[in-house]
Amino acid sequence: MSLTQIFGESPLEKKLTMDKPVESRLDTTDSKLVGKPLTRIEGHLKVAGKATYTAEHQFDDLCHGVMVGATIGKGKVKKVHKDTALQVAGVIGVFHDPLFLRNPQQGGVKMAPVQGASEVFYHGQPIALVVAETLEAAQEGAKALKIDYENDEKHGHFDFNKQKNHTQFIDWVTDKSDDIGKPEKTLKQAEVKVDVTYTTPSQSNMPMEPHSSLARWFEDKLTLHTSNQMLASSKIQLAKALDIPEDNVRLLSPYVGGGFGSKLGISPESVMAAIAAKDLKRPVLVNMTRPQVMETTVRRTNTEQRVALGADKDGKIHTIIHNSIVTNLPSETFFEPVAVSTHFLYGGDNRQIKYEMARMNFTLTGSMRAPGEAVGQLALECAMDELAHTLKLCPIELRKRNEPSEDPSKKIPYSTRKLLACMEQGAKAFGWDERPQTPASRLDGDWLIGYGMACAARSNELKPSQARVSLLPSDKPLGVLARIETDMTDIGTGSYTIFAQVVADMLGLPIDHVEVKLGDTDLPPAAGSGGSWGASSAGSSIYLACEALREKIAQSVGLHADSIGFKQGNLYRQFEHDPSLAEKIGEKINHTLTDTLDKLAEKTGLNSEVSVDNHDNVLDWEQVDTQLPLSSFLQQYAPHGLVANGEIEPGKTKKEYRHAGYGAQFAEVGVHRVTGEIRVRRMLGTFAAGRILNEKTARSQCFGGMVFGIGAALMEQIHHDKRDGRLCNHDLAEYQVCVNADVPDLEVIMLPETDPYANPLHSKGIGELALSGAGAAIANAIFNATGVRVRDYPITLGKLL
Ligand code: MOS
Repeated sequence: MSLTQIFGESPLEKKLTMDKPVESRLDTTDSKLVGKPLTRIEGHLKVAGKATYTAEHQFDDLCHGVMVGATIGKGKVKKVHKDTALQVAGVIGVFHDPLFLRNPQQGGVKMAPVQGASEVFYHGQPIALVVAETLEAAQEGAKALKIDYENDEKHGHFDFNKQKNHTQFIDWVTDKSDDIGKPEKTLKQAEVKVDVTYTTPSQSNMPMEPHSSLARWFEDKLTLHTSNQMLASSKIQLAKALDIPEDNVRLLSPYVGGGFGSKLGISPESVMAAIAAKDLKRPVLVNMTRPQVMETTVRRTNTEQRVALGADKDGKIHTIIHNSIVTNLPSETFFEPVAVSTHFLYGGDNRQIKYEMARMNFTLTGSMRAPGEAVGQLALECAMDELAHTLKLCPIELRKRNEPSEDPSKKIPYSTRKLLACMEQGAKAFGWDERPQTPASRLDGDWLIGYGMACAARSNELKPSQARVSLLPSDKPLGVLARIETDMTDIGTGSYTIFAQVVADMLGLPIDHVEVKLGDTDLPPAAGSGGSWGASSAGSSIYLACEALREKIAQSVGLHADSIGFKQGNLYRQFEHDPSLAEKIGEKINHTLTDTLDKLAEKTGLNSEVSVDNHDNVLDWEQVDTQLPLSSFLQQYAPHGLVANGEIEPGKTKKEYRHAGYGAQFAEVGVHRVTGEIRVRRMLGTFAAGRILNEKTARSQCFGGMVFGIGAALMEQIHHDKRDGRLCNHDLAEYQVCVNADVPDLEVIMLPETDPYANPLHSKGIGELALSGAGAAIANAIFNATGVRVRDYPITLGKLL
């Protein structure tokens, strides 16, 4: 019997558009696995080297490509002398395809476009690919390749301090600006004000695994093993770049060693590998070097931010101005939405947010973890600290006095907002009342000690996402397994594990009875890992597929979907979660189910563990114990298994409510009074981000975010050469990121919260939330320790002396 014979043509589908708040079945499942601190289910594969990353694939006829980047900062490629590389033993191809040389203007692709241009726009821009039998030969060939340029650096823009006087207003994204009331006027009249300029440097995403692509062609179909965060849109991007039908492209990214935004779209090595592999009729692997990752993928823009706050003498803010200058290559449209959380973080009737773009001949700018908040809160949250200091108010008290009851710029309610609770609980746990009241007043040996805090806020997003979940017969102990399929990725964040938890809860199976297949564009398209929306969006589609399965199962045993439950591989009746339903139809359903289960047990000849029927006590199912193994159910109704699709899409709640996660960051620093050396001594973050799907992976995300904050406050900075824009520090020896010795004890407290306006899981994004405000808490602690306010990040010791 086929599935169609049993269930008819109608596919098992469940689509939800978030037009109103929804209930979550996760509140009423039996196993309550969601939330538990489960260890990553694929973790053992990773530590045992059994999780194969792109560059680790082996094919007999595999050849290696090495990218060659421009050695000028602006100009044109005149000639690529292919023979100079082809002379090197082992080199089999030199590619300088017009497709590499796409002008970003023609790209039309939003994130991380295929770079290269008919002109050279920046130093390091990919120009050619040298392919050889071995990696070493390709490296030699790349070194030998001679390229003639027409140098036009005299017309290049390599000095931000000059170029910031020639900016354009960013008016191509309208809803990112605010102009409410008369902010400049009210600022002038303010009893108390700060009006300051903060600067942040270019930063590099710096994922552990470099960008890497391995291309294989089967006739006119391309399979690309790659390291990518967002497969569905990247597939379209790559097909466009190669000018082939979308369906001829398959991307595989089952394991991704981090991305932090730099792998949201395809990067140049993908196109290059594809073109070379097609020509050579062999698999081609292009694995970037660390300098290439920094030079040819994306960077976070440097920023200059004016933050002006006007308040009355009681600390009631009436004016907030947050205007930013950001940078990108000529004609690129991406810009860092620096003030994205300034729209809604604090109250105030007069508000201005504006952006200006300075065109620089530097590496393309793009998303880097918490694009917007990460740098915007380095300014806003320090300006708040400056205002509190001026007012002689506790920074937490200042924020309490400016807690809005609704989004002050859009005048819409918050979905959920636990900012005050985060501050209060964080302050208590951190020991905030021990904070030195006066800056530069506490010494511990030669170390000046300071405390600082900052708020964290990060927009919460839901993106369209699809998934398939199957309930299949199996040789596992319970005779069934559930399989999740979606092209969603796990970039180290824990997707595999949390999705397995969702399904295990929804279908009442142990976690090892759930199989998770991710990272393959042949599977249903998901939102991908970006903007901290991945877990909620992909997770919701998985949840909905489980709901579809539940409905079909309930229907086949003659019950309402709310009247069945799943527990340890069994199907049972449940009423306790829906007393009204139980009252209304309890008697009838009670009979039906018992009949059905009894009959089923009889028919299948299996012990269905059907026992007493308790008519008097339908609400107490602990006593009733009428259950049927899911394996028996499948045997009877769907011997080949049941398949269902789930789909989520944002709806009216997106516009009608302000969605964000909130938190409070606390830091204690020591600053050496002689050398100015800065050490973070401890940090504590409190976060409210909806339902926590896995306490362990969520906490790890928070640790990662806070560590990113230490880097942003104290060390991360790209230095651009003012002569040609090249990255002076293009590797991990010179671009400093936190190492273990820089990271003190971190404490993370997650406040219980669920958000019914967000999605059916009631979860919010968490990874980027924990980065937001983290650096500002450190900067504020440095001020508290020293009395010196540094507004130019990173805060290095020279700036304190
Ligand atoms: Mo994140 S910057 O949205 O990958």
